[in-house]
Amino acid sequence: MGTHGEKRLADEMTLTGGRPLAGTINVQGAKNAALPVMAAAILLRGQSLRLECVPDLYDIQTMCRLLCHLGAEVEFENGCMTINVPDEIECETPVELVRKMRASSLVLGPLTARCGRAVMPLPGGCDLGSRPLDFHLKGLAKMGADIELKGGAVTATAGRLKGATITLDFPSVGATENLMMAASLAEGTTFIENAAKEPEISNLAEILRLMGVQIKGDGTEIIRITGMNELHSASGEIIPDRIEAATYLMAGVITKGCVTVRGIAPEFLESVLNKMEEAGADIDVFNGEITAKWKGPLQGVTVKTLPYPGFPTDTQPQMMALLTLANGNSVIHESVFDSRLLHIDEFRKMGAKIEVQDNVAIVTGVSKLTGAEVLSSNLRAGAALIMLGLAAEGKTTVRGLEHVWRGYEGLVEKFRSLGAEIEIAEPAVE
Ligand code: EPZ
Repeated sequence: MGTHGEKRLADEMTLTGGRPLAGTINVQGAKNAALPVMAAAILLRGQSLRLECVPDLYDIQTMCRLLCHLGAEVEFENGCMTINVPDEIECETPVELVRKMRASSLVLGPLTARCGRAVMPLPGGCDLGSRPLDFHLKGLAKMGADIELKGGAVTATAGRLKGATITLDFPSVGATENLMMAASLAEGTTFIENAAKEPEISNLAEILRLMGVQIKGDGTEIIRITGMNELHSASGEIIPDRIEAATYLMAGVITKGCVTVRGIAPEFLESVLNKMEEAGADIDVFNGEITAKWKGPLQGVTVKTLPYPGFPTDTQPQMMALLTLANGNSVIHESVFDSRLLHIDEFRKMGAKIEVQDNVAIVTGVSKLTGAEVLSSNLRAGAALIMLGLAAEGKTTVRGLEHVWRGYEGLVEKFRSLGAEIEIAEPAVE
């Protein structure tokens, strides 16, 4: 069985703030597209899926290990991945991998559809509040699967799944992806109503079409999937990571610099770019590049996170970081997750003024932040703390970087190429 070696990276870094960032960044492949697309390989039987522009991240390594555990062979080098899937695969997922990454739940739909049985411990992942799987399980049940929850694991069993009309209570990204993949081998046609419309959904649909699935409506709220008996080998490409791109653009502005990201369509980031402009950043889109430039003190704004194409929850901590130094107040309403404001305590250690009521943060801009020792509790909070460390006076040490390595490829090199002063401690010896 092929495996993907695991590189361990440092767990802490020290940043020296006060230097404006300047330069151009090539955007990585989207983590949140690559993970469901890798899971879709499970739908194949004795076939291969070849992918380009796959980012090299901890979460990708975890998904590689999960696919290998199930019996697939994975080769992954320089962004190119080949997943060879044998005729027979396992249908039980290992608890240590599922607890490590919530996106492991994306194998539930494909396994149920392809093996007629899937056993999965209830997943872990970031500390973003309770992240149930009820939409996923209700949809699979609608397609004929028998769902049993016992001992902290879920078992889905089914003969051949049957197409159904499934209406999601919320446009859940993961549920839309799991049900699209399950429907790909179901008998008949499935409609997913109130589907998520993120670009990553369309990337998955594109790869499924290349594998032989008939899918229409991805990117809208109703997706129609006509199931096939067998799917075939395919080659496809992972779209650029809009969240990574937004992070570097905001880092350019918070450090009073000018950062350009290359290789990302501006429409993937429209709500973010509009909100940055409203706050007073200079945004320029030209010739396949997006540039964000500081042109004077930012003004406070109101932000509400929403499903795509609304303001992405995955850029909420980074936007909050930007607004801690704006003139006046900002109101940030996190409406997608019930607990994605835990980074505020760490921001306060650096002098940020933020009050929280329910899922709404009121940020009062301050004239400066001061370096401190802070802890990253999840992926995007970690990126936001690094942004603050680059903008604060003095030195900031950010710990808990394993969260950051889950989603940001080459982060230290990329920030250093923009002029950031970053020291990293050697990775802890395992
Ligand atoms: C995906 O998570 C992303 N992860 C998240 O990115 C992203 O924040 C999220 O979508 C929203 O855009 C991947 O794609 C791997 P959801 P997912 O299902 O699918 C509730 C990052 O930083 N819900 O759209 O887990 C859920 O609790 C990560 O890259 C249910 O109640 O998100 C949440 O409040 C973090 N029942 C809301 O829906 C369910 O069955 C949205 O969750 C499923 C979800």
